[in-house]
Amino acid sequence: MPKRLLLGFLAIVILGIVGFGVFAWRPAIGKIAPPPASSFSPAQVARGEVLAGAGYCATCHTAKGGQPYAGGYPMKTSFGTIYSTNITPDPKTGVGTWSEAAFRRAMRQGVARDGKHLFPAFPYDHFGKMTDADIADLYAYVMTRPAVSAPAKRNSVPFPLNIRALQAGWKLLFFRPEPFKPSADKSPEWNRGAYLAQGVSHCGACHTPRNALGAEKRDQAFAGAAIDNWIAPPLTSANPSPAPWDQAELAAYLRTGVSRYHGVAAGPMSPVVHDGLVKLPDADIQALAVYFADVGGAAGRASALAPALAKAQAANRLNTGPQIDAAARLYTAACASCHYNGAGQPNPLRPDLALNSAVNLDDPTNLIRVILHGVAAKEGAPGVVMPAFGRFSDADVARLAAYLRATRTDKPAWPDLEKKVATIRAEGRAEGKE
Ligand code: HEC
Ligand code: HEC
Ligand code: HEC
Repeated sequence: MPKRLLLGFLAIVILGIVGFGVFAWRPAIGKIAPPPASSFSPAQVARGEVLAGAGYCATCHTAKGGQPYAGGYPMKTSFGTIYSTNITPDPKTGVGTWSEAAFRRAMRQGVARDGKHLFPAFPYDHFGKMTDADIADLYAYVMTRPAVSAPAKRNSVPFPLNIRALQAGWKLLFFRPEPFKPSADKSPEWNRGAYLAQGVSHCGACHTPRNALGAEKRDQAFAGAAIDNWIAPPLTSANPSPAPWDQAELAAYLRTGVSRYHGVAAGPMSPVVHDGLVKLPDADIQALAVYFADVGGAAGRASALAPALAKAQAANRLNTGPQIDAAARLYTAACASCHYNGAGQPNPLRPDLALNSAVNLDDPTNLIRVILHGVAAKEGAPGVVMPAFGRFSDADVARLAAYLRATRTDKPAWPDLEKKVATIRAEGRAEGKE
């Protein structure tokens, strides 16, 4: 009886859709009159400002040249472009009518005040680990910013992925809303670092690889990932630099953006350090350094530093005399004058390229980017620049990268370098770099 079968099948489909609709539905939380700034204590607002820094809220919620926190910053994902929204207290286009409960639900569950599901481009999967007290402080800070009228921009996520109710399915599969659980066998400092890293500072949002549906792979935390045309290197023991990231180097890098052995925080890591973590007190930076020194297994690798340094400095001496080889000549002419350290402690402003992760990663993207576009004064160490070599041909950039890989590391040669340079040059143009 095919007709009855068909009807039965249809009934199951309809029940399924209705069931999912019920499952996906979230109630709206009632509007409130925008709370006056005076209803928050200055101390609470100040604590919220630190957390807003540590969570890079302004970096994502401010469009290029736009008003702070008014949204409209484009995030390119493999599912289309998603724009951040206006989180100023404007009652019509911002979050002015959101109660603290509505704000807390958004931070913990990725649900807007009106009940619609938010996309995980907003890292609520990390923010949800924050304590209620920290979320209340953030609320106080957000609600005391100047209100800006700025309607949300239209996302370019294609149908059917733009159906927000489907996010309930994503959450069911990948989202575990649970508060941060301290580890009893670790120090309070380690736990503080873990709380910041996994929560408000969401380091894994860039440093953890994602699956095909854009969820972080839980079993590969901090294993390194591609982000915004860069590679965020692994922060685990798989970090490719021959010099271990110990607590002192991590603290220097996260505080100032410069590590004497490893180079500078460039690309997307630059605003993390200079606009975000800069708000955190030194004690919190040390806590992050304690946590990541452990994640990377630095203690077990301490003895690797001295030989790695000696080898890096020996490699520098390759480039002092007249050069026969074309690639070596290019390097000596273009790079060696700045990237040369004698024996002893390296000058942190002349990164020793043998120790730099860009040269040691499996993927040459970061090295090619740095050669093509340089590192601007406000991006790397303040006031110092690494010049851009965008006028070099693809073949010359590829030659330099291959030369560094061969003379500075024991790792296999990178394949298809020239093609990769062309791709990265085109990406840079699309970003307005050249
Ligand atoms: C990595 C980028 C990113 C960061 C960092 C970020 N946000 Fe967002 N946020 C977004 C995006 C994108 C949306 C819009 C999501 C959507 O439309 O589904 C959003 C939405 C929101 C919303 C919901 C607003 C609405 O109109 O529905 C709130 C509240 C919010 N963010 C607060 C914050 C706070 C507070 C911080 C800092 C602690 C922060 N965000 C940091 C990207 C970010
Ligand atoms: C917006 C994405 C993003 C976020 C968030 C982010 N990082 Fe990064 N990180 C990167 C990128 C990209 C690089 C490579 C930068 C370069 O080569 O100059 C990087 C580099 C690093 C490095 C240097 C690694 C190496 O081997 O050279 C460390 C250490 C680091 N990040 C730690 C952190 C910590 C700790 C956090 C959280 C507090 C964090 N990152 C958050 C994108 C990010
Ligand atoms: C005028 C001096 C100068 C020259 C020439 C120069 N560099 Fe640099 N380079 C720097 C400085 C300074 C930094 C540190 C970045 C900063 O703070 O601006 C740097 C950083 C780097 C980094 C590390 C970036 C990071 O994210 O840690 C790499 C890789 C690099 N340079 C490669 C090269 C190559 C390859 C050449 C030759 C094509 C070259 N540099 C030529 C000064 C120079």
